[in-house]
Amino acid sequence: MSKILHIISSPRGEASNSIKLANAVIDQLRMKDPGAAVHVKDLTRSPFPHLEEAHLNAFFTPAEKHTAENKAAISHSDQAIAELFDADIIVIGAPMYNFSVSSTLKAWIDHVARAGITFKYTDHGPEGLISGKKVYLAVTTGGIYSSGDYAAVDFLTPYLKFMLGFIGLDDVTVFRAEGFALSGVQDTALDKGIDSVKI
Ligand SMILES: Cc1cc2nc3c(=O)[nH]c(=O)nc-3n(C[C@H](O)[C@H](O)[C@H](O)COP(=O)(O)O)c2cc1C
Repeated sequence: MSKILHIISSPRGEASNSIKLANAVIDQLRMKDPGAAVHVKDLTRSPFPHLEEAHLNAFFTPAEKHTAENKAAISHSDQAIAELFDADIIVIGAPMYNFSVSSTLKAWIDHVARAGITFKYTDHGPEGLISGKKVYLAVTTGGIYSSGDYAAVDFLTPYLKFMLGFIGLDDVTVFRAEGFALSGVQDTALDKGIDSVKI
């Protein structure tokens, strides 16, 4: 029985295209493994803060020297990292905001990328410390970035893939639903995106 972690970063609830696309991925995963357990982490309901001094102090203090204050500052980061290590499959819904990830998703990334825990520096460069997971991205956009002039300004997908790989999550498949802001495309954007999901 696999464990699926579904990360939501759109605040639009039932209207969200990235949640619908991610759910299409999860539906197919559950068809293959009906016993799969899904843990939903909605970053918009319990948002991660920008990194503050207390977080950085805790990040860069060895665990054995953590004070009660350090432990409190780091508890949400510890929990988010534990969820990543615990999952077999991670499905991330990622709406494009201003050509990149939303700040909601970026804040989560800032709390799960931790030296010595999810990556480390070695003589041959940085090494990710989470391994053996499959990641699916459900990327939704107002424009079209899979091809054409705007492909070069998709700073979301390459960034997210690189960053996940940096912490060891290097087996990433991207599904897109795109063109939600384009007349003539928007009406079929979601169906087309969902149809592209083949697990
Ligand atoms: C604040 C904001 C910024 C956005 N920026 C972009 C953008 O830079 N490029 C783009 O193609 N779409 C942009 N969009 C459109 C969303 O990516 C698109 O509507 C997407 O489907 C939203 O996902 P959701 O339905 O899961 O919330 C933006 C939407 C919002 C609300």
